[in-house]
Amino acid sequence: MVDQVSTLRKLAEERVEAVPGKMRVIAVSSGKGGVGKTTFVVNLALALAEYNYKVIILDGDLGLANVDVAFGITPKYSIKHLLSGEKKIEDILYPIGRDIKVLPGASGVVELANLDRGQLKNVLVNFGRLEKMADILLIDTGAGLGHTVLNFIGASDDVIVMLTSEPPSMTDAYGLIKSIKSPSGKHNINVVVNRIKNEQEAHQSFERLERAVKKFIGIPINLLGWIYDDPSVGRSVMEQRPVGLSQQHSPAFQCVQWIAGNVTGVYLQPPTPNNGIKGFITSLLKLNK
Ligand SMILES: Nc1ncnc2c1ncn2[C@@H]1O[C@H](COP(=O)(O)OP(=O)(O)OP(=O)(O)O)[C@@H](O)[C@H]1O
Ligand SMILES: [Mg+2]
Repeated sequence: MVDQVSTLRKLAEERVEAVPGKMRVIAVSSGKGGVGKTTFVVNLALALAEYNYKVIILDGDLGLANVDVAFGITPKYSIKHLLSGEKKIEDILYPIGRDIKVLPGASGVVELANLDRGQLKNVLVNFGRLEKMADILLIDTGAGLGHTVLNFIGASDDVIVMLTSEPPSMTDAYGLIKSIKSPSGKHNINVVVNRIKNEQEAHQSFERLERAVKKFIGIPINLLGWIYDDPSVGRSVMEQRPVGLSQQHSPAFQCVQWIAGNVTGVYLQPPTPNNGIKGFITSLLKLNK
């Protein structure tokens, strides 16, 4: 895996952007809560930064400010201040090192996911400026089948559905995939199996889900990767310092580095179904018609 990571990293360093200036919007979601989305999102951002990608994380979880807690930060402003016109997007972005910025959602998240036409121009102008600042917008959508979560997924270019190998997590992942709607009717549905004991467990979980999705929903899904159940993750959550910063050699972060390699591979494939950040905002509007 380590060899694969260094080869992919080399490729990424030499990368020629497939679609210059176009930011990829990726939603990370799960049917059931507590499967590890927030931990994954912050570490994926750190791993992508190692591949020279600039990443913005939108904390799309309602109220709980999960991403802030994971990084141990307390941003002053959120999407709420952007939507009310009090602040510009540059004022609410919270930098984590050189290549990562957090876009705190807080209570503005529901409003953003349920945009109306009156807010469109201001939001488009502000979000449009993100395109120059980063390559990837990663959204931690929170769990479940709520309107806000489904709208974020529907407006994104790709979705990563996270699950664990426990049966309820799988049933809920199936429910989420069934509910995903997209204006273009097609999405790349990528799956990450978290907290596995061995690779076989990851494959078995994925194959069980894939069989059900193929049979009853009739769409393909893609196994993007898996992450080991790793005690360093629990420690890092307590310390509010992601493993990608404090435990780079932990099995969990090595798995995330490998997934980041797969994500950069996906990113290099043209074209995206929802057209990056501008498509994201206009799709949110369409989904609310
Ligand atoms: N690979 C892992 N190994 C061990 N523990 C993990 C792993 N991934 C996540 N966890 C643990 O699972 C718990 C939940 O993780 P996290 O908060 O990232 O989940 P979530 O899906 O974002 O939850 P929510 O739906 O409530 O937002 C955390 O306490 C974390 O320590
Ligand atoms: Mg979370």
